[in-house]
Amino acid sequence: MANKAVLNADVNRGIINKNIYGHFAEHLGRCIYEGIWVGEDSSIPNTNGIRNDVLEALKNIEVPVLRWPGGCFADEYHWKDGIGPRESRKRMVNTHWGGVIENNHFGTHEFMMLCDMLGAEPYINGNVGSGTVQEMSEWVEYMTFDGESPMANWRQENGQEEPWKLKYFGVGNENWGCGGNMRPQYYSDLYRRFQTYVRNYGDNKIFKIAGGPNVADYNWTEVLMREAARFMDGLSVHYYVHPGGFENKGSATNFSEADWDITMKKTLYIEELIERHGTIMDKYDPEKRIDMIIDEWGAWYDVEPGTNPGFLYQQNTVRDALVAGASLNIFNNHNDRVRMANIAQMINVIQAMILTENEKMILTPTYHVFEMYKVHQDAERVALDLEVEEVTYGDISYEQVNGSASKKNGRINVSLCNMDKEKSATLDLDLRGADLKDVTGRMITAQEMNAHNTFENPENVKPVDFTGFKADGNTLKVELPAKSVVVISIAE
Ligand code: AHR
Repeated sequence: MANKAVLNADVNRGIINKNIYGHFAEHLGRCIYEGIWVGEDSSIPNTNGIRNDVLEALKNIEVPVLRWPGGCFADEYHWKDGIGPRESRKRMVNTHWGGVIENNHFGTHEFMMLCDMLGAEPYINGNVGSGTVQEMSEWVEYMTFDGESPMANWRQENGQEEPWKLKYFGVGNENWGCGGNMRPQYYSDLYRRFQTYVRNYGDNKIFKIAGGPNVADYNWTEVLMREAARFMDGLSVHYYVHPGGFENKGSATNFSEADWDITMKKTLYIEELIERHGTIMDKYDPEKRIDMIIDEWGAWYDVEPGTNPGFLYQQNTVRDALVAGASLNIFNNHNDRVRMANIAQMINVIQAMILTENEKMILTPTYHVFEMYKVHQDAERVALDLEVEEVTYGDISYEQVNGSASKKNGRINVSLCNMDKEKSATLDLDLRGADLKDVTGRMITAQEMNAHNTFENPENVKPVDFTGFKADGNTLKVELPAKSVVVISIAE
């Protein structure tokens, strides 16, 4: 059977918020230090301490929003340690991630500078687990108060005359776990209390994000929405794909065919999570005022052999391109509630865009998916109805193809993933509401299911032109190779 798709180019489904293509950078392993920050005196070419190669690569994927400083680190971070002259900043132990010394050289000023250089909105995650209400309140005052105040004066003494614009602020992270092992009722009360003092100064309006559930903890969502919905603008949801489960995640590169299949199945599960958490949100917020913010997602495997287990450094293969492509399709298709997502993490950690080794840098297959999919950022979603085959391997079944579609700048862009590691997929794409003309395509694929880029072979997996389509009237007959992520572009 050929898979079928009906693309109604004139049936609009709302804007795909560009923040779905957001990122997350934590003080974890070599994400911030080495990955982003090398310091002004480094032999690695840099601008004000931020490495140039990484900066240029990130600009190319148009990072819309960047979450920082954690993750679990956020609930141990005390922002006052990370301001003022760098040489006198407090050194601390990053107890959660590898027990290494954190010299606090990358702090609020450096983060805001990075966001400015990238043209990205800052998203700062505050400390509820081990911080105080006063500390959180003063951080917001430090960053955003315009005029004379103790914190604004201090900011100016540290070289930042004007307040920064700060929109996104997270009130705690994973407070059911590393953020304090709380129960939902307790966190709900703490959330209500802490957020009270996250003030809007001048015309800076903070969008407050509550720390949401772990995976399928629907009770957390229920309690938090019931108790605190009116005090929040966003609810975070975290979901990681661990093929072998959390304790024994499996290798990023040395995996079996069954591992591939379970990875695809677990990737697609995020749709159920969005729908079920979304249903609870609908109960308390039928107008969909509150955004679902999937501020940690991605495939998380065992660390690369011989690397620090606390650094979460893993390789990235064509399998991860499929994880990224399919997840982003699902987020696009739920654009009525999902308005931000932040892949974990930007560099050298979990499902990274970029890997570095001292002065060397490579782009991962996941990076290339973000580059190919940037056409969806702030585009108008259009209706794409798919009727696709299920593939079954052993006791695992999943839909072979998934996709999403949007239009922007006179082009209709359709992103399609063939999740099957063995079989190509034929798809009859019936275009309605526009004439089929001027079709182009790009694709990421590979022969081997663990194909990846290395410092010796950095361009092993990269986008190529896609020509596997043929017009038949207003139907595009598409042949998607096994394990491929494809973006087809059609003139509107
Ligand atoms: O991204 C790594 C960690 O995963 C984050 O610090 C934490 O929030 C989550 O458990």
